[in-house]
Amino acid sequence: MTASLCGDRIEGLFVPLDAVDSDARDLLAGITKVEQTRPGTENRNSSRMALYILEMRILRRLVLVLLLSAVLLASVLCLSADPAEGESREQLLVPLPQTAPAPKDNPMTPEKVALGKQLFFDPRLSGDNSMSCATCHLPEKAFGDGLPRAKGHDGKILGRNTPSLLNVSFFEGYDWDGRARSLEEQALGPIQSPDEMNQDLAELERELNAIPGYVQQFQKVFGANVNRDGIAKSLAAFQRTLVTQPSPFDRYLRGEKEALSAEAKRGLELFVGDADCVRCHRGPLLSDGKFYRLGLSSKDDGRMFVTGKKEDKGRFRTPSLRNISETGPYMHNGSRKTLSEVVEFYYRGIPPEAADGLPVDVKPLLALTFTEIPAVVAFLESLTGEPPEISAPKLP
Ligand code: HEC
Ligand code: HEC
Repeated sequence: MTASLCGDRIEGLFVPLDAVDSDARDLLAGITKVEQTRPGTENRNSSRMALYILEMRILRRLVLVLLLSAVLLASVLCLSADPAEGESREQLLVPLPQTAPAPKDNPMTPEKVALGKQLFFDPRLSGDNSMSCATCHLPEKAFGDGLPRAKGHDGKILGRNTPSLLNVSFFEGYDWDGRARSLEEQALGPIQSPDEMNQDLAELERELNAIPGYVQQFQKVFGANVNRDGIAKSLAAFQRTLVTQPSPFDRYLRGEKEALSAEAKRGLELFVGDADCVRCHRGPLLSDGKFYRLGLSSKDDGRMFVTGKKEDKGRFRTPSLRNISETGPYMHNGSRKTLSEVVEFYYRGIPPEAADGLPVDVKPLLALTFTEIPAVVAFLESLTGEPPEISAPKLP
């Protein structure tokens, strides 16, 4: 906590100048009062008073000068104690909470989660009944698909890599460009997308209302027949259960110092220090949820798709690094196959500008040596925690 300690220390030293002045004033008043009440000293009082006032003024100046130099010294010390060094920046990384937060209007119940799980695995959610959420988000692939870019409707290769859904509920905005603001909102996207499940929602409601098992469950959970709002809410509730067990890194953060190998510890040092990964990869998911341009592609508008701003062209949400060793290939376009390739990219591959001339948001780590890459990779590998055991349920 060096950074915030420094902040506190500096703030503590920043006694308002008014306060200093009034302290000196009180002191002066006290002294003169004592002088005045001493009997037989009236004559000398006026000249001694003048002397005292002069002395107090000098004292006051001195106090001020001392205070200001202390403040200056403290800030210099704090600046040189860059938060990049040592433990302070490690504090930006926190253990993964063990339960996911659910919004007030969609509380989790076992029945709702069970219903969401069925819907997640049910190919009848797609237009031609061939594709479920689990076709692309496979439990055995950390709820990704292991492909560079997703394979959609009719085998079409889509533009983006399928993200893992492990721990996904800790994000606040969804998809690589952050266009969905909740898991509920996100869920209806792939169902309707002509490139993905290619389904009409009214048609889907009709279809599922013809399946007694679904109607019964919807009545029980939502007190209504099958409807899109309930489909979205159940799918979201199920996804909120996809939380991993503590990884070696979580155990390390909780004080089990031997949970990380020496190599992983060195990687962590680089991650929070010289390599400055923690600038964007921080918090429980090791993602700040913000959008950056690393200059990987010019074809995909990225965040600009949502904001309409040219400056957001090619910017993508910082991905979670949880269970990252299981979720390759990497990047929004799946252009990096292994974690070594990703880290290598940060060391030497970041281009000076994106293909369309826009500046990139990170600089290559030219001052660091390639020999550090395995250490960073070892740290990334320590972020893998046991996923919940999920297998395809029996469908109604
Ligand atoms: C054709 C493959 C495919 C299918 C089917 C599919 N997804 Fe996805 N999913 C993707 C891809 C690709 C993305 C990234 C989309 C983007 O960024 O534009 C994604 C993104 C997501 C995200 C956002 C993850 C994040 O980190 O922000 C969630 C949540 C999600 N999908 C859930 C679902 C659910 C629920 C279903 C079923 C209703 C589903 N997906 C069906 C491929 C698929
Ligand atoms: C300026 C913010 C920023 C910094 C600094 C940064 N990253 Fe990233 N990282 C991102 C963004 C954004 C992406 C996705 C980029 C894309 O697909 O276009 C990403 C992608 C990744 C991925 C691939 C994740 C996936 O699911 O595909 C890994 C691994 C990764 N970063 C590790 C690191 C490491 C290690 C460092 C330090 C050497 C680092 N990052 C520094 C923002 C950053």
